[in-house]
Amino acid sequence: MVERNIVIGGEPGSGKSVSVSMLVAAAALDPYVHLSLFDGKLVELSMWRRCADHFVGADLSRAIEVLRELRADMEDRYAYLMDEGRRKITKGDGGRFPLRLVAVDELASFTLGVGDDKKLCAEFSNLLRDLVSRGRAAGIIVVGATQKPSSDIVPTALRDLFGFRWAMRCSTPQASDTILGSGWATQGFTASSIDGRDRGVGFLLSEGGWPVRLKSYYLSDDDLRTLARRSEALRSADVERAS
Ligand SMILES: Nc1ncnc2c1ncn2[C@@H]1O[C@H](COP(=O)(O)OP(=O)(O)OP(=O)(O)O)[C@@H](O)[C@H]1O
Ligand SMILES: [Mg+2]
Repeated sequence: MVERNIVIGGEPGSGKSVSVSMLVAAAALDPYVHLSLFDGKLVELSMWRRCADHFVGADLSRAIEVLRELRADMEDRYAYLMDEGRRKITKGDGGRFPLRLVAVDELASFTLGVGDDKKLCAEFSNLLRDLVSRGRAAGIIVVGATQKPSSDIVPTALRDLFGFRWAMRCSTPQASDTILGSGWATQGFTASSIDGRDRGVGFLLSEGGWPVRLKSYYLSDDDLRTLARRSEALRSADVERAS
């Protein structure tokens, strides 16, 4: 996933949060990866909160504060790269600038606001767009999930920057195209063809490739608890080694 950003879309219950959790699990098991988790529902990613630098529920002000911190870190990384005469953060920079995974489950909780929240949502979307557009070379990966990525919910300027798109079951070919990009449904790649009972199944489109139909790995709550405990132990062992 290094240098990749992923957006996952699909109807309610299609398996988005399970997939986000699977990706977070992979990152959490590497103690050098720092996690920043945004979870509009609180319970989807809370298992990982003790492994994470940041865990934010549906609290827009806090979410913006964390994104600002991440942006400042990204600026430091680019200043360092400029001094070094390099263009990307690599594994060797991990001691000072570790890889970061930023996961946002239910983007709409942070991007779709009414009344006073509208301004905060616009700010959140702008900050996240900046991370998605400039974070790649700086070692910052963004994963976002949303039931509907249509422009009224996730600004197009943000959605279109995600290089990897994963469409879980959708009700219509148009909805599938909103996730994968327009034109895929007419070529036979539409997540509306997925049976509603096939949870976790979707089409994954990588940059410049063809959509691939696949099923995410399902981690039960017990699996997640075991993995989270292992990740916490690996991280504390790492801190002890470093001190
Ligand atoms: N890969 C999978 N294999 C088997 N079952 C799965 C898989 N992915 C999801 N499921 C089942 O589907 C249910 C719903 O999945 P999940 O919570 O990820 O959906 P969602 O798309 O995030 O829904 P919502 O939009 O309501 O948040 C899970 O609780 C699980 O029972
Ligand atoms: Mg979900």
